[in-house]
Amino acid sequence: MEEKIKSLEKAFEEDCQKAATPKEFEFLRIKYLGRSSRLSQFFSQLPNLIPQERGIWGKRLNCLKQKMTALLANEARGPLKDEENFDLTFPSSPFQLGSRHILTTVNQKICSIFENLGFAVAEGGEIEDEWHNFTALNIPLEHPSRDVFDTFYLDIKEKNNGKYLLRSHTSPSQTRIMKIGKPPLAVISPGRVYRPDEVDATHSFMFHQIEGFAVGEDLNFAHLKGVLLHFAHKFFTPEITLRFRPHFFPFTEPSAEVDISCFVCRRKKEKGASRDTLHASRKCSVCKGKGWLEVLGCGMIHPQVLDNCEIDSKKYKGFAFGMGVERIAMLKYGIGDIRLFYENDVRFLEQFSI
Ligand code: DAH
Repeated sequence: MEEKIKSLEKAFEEDCQKAATPKEFEFLRIKYLGRSSRLSQFFSQLPNLIPQERGIWGKRLNCLKQKMTALLANEARGPLKDEENFDLTFPSSPFQLGSRHILTTVNQKICSIFENLGFAVAEGGEIEDEWHNFTALNIPLEHPSRDVFDTFYLDIKEKNNGKYLLRSHTSPSQTRIMKIGKPPLAVISPGRVYRPDEVDATHSFMFHQIEGFAVGEDLNFAHLKGVLLHFAHKFFTPEITLRFRPHFFPFTEPSAEVDISCFVCRRKKEKGASRDTLHASRKCSVCKGKGWLEVLGCGMIHPQVLDNCEIDSKKYKGFAFGMGVERIAMLKYGIGDIRLFYENDVRFLEQFSI
């Protein structure tokens, strides 16, 4: 049996070498794979064999058949230069294109708005030490964010700067850059941050932040407001107004939390709402009638932070801000659950593919 198969294989190879045109190959296809081919005769003999042999020879014949089919299919298409057989309009086999993740797109959009204002982009490291993540930022030892329940500590000590940890915010980028850079500085720093939070619809143990800051001789709060208003107009819509609410951050003084006016209901009251209704439509699915959406924290860099980083706080002033990328993306696209970003469900992701 093996000899017969081998001689068939040899004859096939010789015939293939002689054939040149697609027509000749089509002829060979009928000769070697057609109903009355030798191969099909071999197949028809299989049922006469004992079961153990049937399997072995069946496999052997199938292999040969696959080899012949593949070779003839290739050749029957003809060489590419043969214009007669090359159909440019023939649809290609379907394939799926990948696209950017929604968080990457939002991150890039935000960064490019600040880049257009002259900010440089600098990414910090995800492993930080206590000095850069807390101490230099004026965060005292007893501050709750330093607790092991709020920060992932690594069991390794930096030589002089306390324990290593997974950075809990992107603000240490400020301290890293200020220590090596000379004012004037204007930097935007995106990246991942980590906190041991229970995962739910609005919390994750890992998320993304963008830190921004500028240091110069005569910077003041008005510059900060101008930069953030420009960002809000470019990223959301030019109709947006900002609200600065006084707040406390150890690394800025004064500090504020910033809200944008709701870009969905535009703070319009429902028809017939009483005069006492201060805010927007209670039916608004985004602001739920508050009229404002919290987007970031900011302030003037605390003089102590400048001094910690060897920048003369008597000569220089700075402003800083930090925002969560997931939060901004959720607001902009009406996404209700942070976990959707990380589950890699294509049905969710492809809604944002560009
Ligand atoms: N680091 C803060 C946080 O993670 C965010 C922040 C607030 C950054 C105020 C700043 C700032 O630069 O000025 O919650």
